[in-house]
Amino acid sequence: MKFVFNALIFHFLLYCATHTLGVEIQSDPEINGDRVIHTELEETVSLVCQLGGSHETPADEELVWRRNGNAIRLAEGNRKGRSSVCVSPVIYEDNGATFSCHLSKNNTATASVTLNVTYRPQLSGSEDVAVEAESVLVLQCDIWANPPVSSVTWTLNGSLVDLLAGGFSVISDGFTSRLTAESADKSLHEGAYQCTAESPKYGVSSKQFNVAVTEKIFKFPLMPAIAGIVVLVLTSLLAVASRWKKIRKCCK
Ligand SMILES: *[C@@H]1O[C@H](CO)[C@@H](O)[C@H](O)[C@H]1NC(C)=O
Ligand SMILES: *[C@@H]1O[C@H](CO)[C@@H](O)[C@H](O)[C@H]1NC(C)=O
Ligand SMILES: *[C@@H]1O[C@H](CO)[C@@H](O)[C@H](O)[C@H]1NC(C)=O
Repeated sequence: MKFVFNALIFHFLLYCATHTLGVEIQSDPEINGDRVIHTELEETVSLVCQLGGSHETPADEELVWRRNGNAIRLAEGNRKGRSSVCVSPVIYEDNGATFSCHLSKNNTATASVTLNVTYRPQLSGSEDVAVEAESVLVLQCDIWANPPVSSVTWTLNGSLVDLLAGGFSVISDGFTSRLTAESADKSLHEGAYQCTAESPKYGVSSKQFNVAVTEKIFKFPLMPAIAGIVVLVLTSLLAVASRWKKIRKCCK
C-alpha cells in the first residue's frame, strides 16, 4: 500500500465527518453511519484528520495516524493541526482495516474509520484440462469475494452436473469450490464444464474448463523390473564364475 500525503487531493465535495472531542476524520468516499467507508479494489480512499470539537486544543497540536494500531509515517508538514493520508490503490488487505487518528500527546480522543473493500470473485476465461482415464478429476474455482457469493453452480455441457450419475462431489468453502470425480471416465466426464458464482453485488461470473479424458498410460512396474534385473545380473555372474573355472582349467 502506498500512502500519498498530499493535501491538494482533497478538493472533493463530499465531506462527511466522524467526530470525537479532540479530532475528526473526513473522507472521500464518505463515511457512513457505522464509521465504515465503502470502497472497491484499486480505488483510492482519502482521509483527513483535523482538530475539531473543543476549542481548547491549540491549532498546532501534532496528530498521529494509525492503521490497525500501527503508526503511519507522516511527512513533515502533514502532522500539525490537520493531517491527510491517502490509501491508493486499495488492496485486499485493506478490507476491515481501521484507520484512526489522535493527538500525539493525548490518545484519549481517537477518531477512527474502517474500510469495507468489496471485490468480485476472480472467475473468467477457460482452461484446458487433460486427465488420464481412471485418475482423479479435480476442477477448482476461486469464489472468494466481498460480499460473499450467494451461490455456486457447476454445469457439464450446459446442464447441471449430475452428481450421482457422474460420481462427482462438490466441496465449497468461502474461498474455493471444488468439483471432484474419483475415477475419470471418457463417456461420463469428458466435455465442457463451467462453474458459475452469483454475487449479490457483482452479479454472475463464471469460468470454463474443457476436460479431455486421455487413455490410461501403462505404468512401467518399477519394483518387479528391478527384481528382474537383479536376478538377471546374478545369474550371468554365476554363469561367468562357473565358466571361468573351466577356462582357467583348460589354460593350465
Ligand atoms: C486528553 O483528552 C481528554 C478528552 O479530550 C481530556 O479529558 C483529558 O484531560 C486529556 N488529557 C491530557 C493529559 O491532556
Ligand atoms: C461490506 O459491504 C457489503 C456490501 O456493500 C456488505 O454486504 C457487507 O456486510 C459489508 N461488510 C462489513 C463488514 O460491513
Ligand atoms: C459433452 O459434449 C461433448 C461434445 O459434444 C461430447 O463429446 C461429450 O461426450 C459430452 N459429455 C457428456 C458427459 O455427455
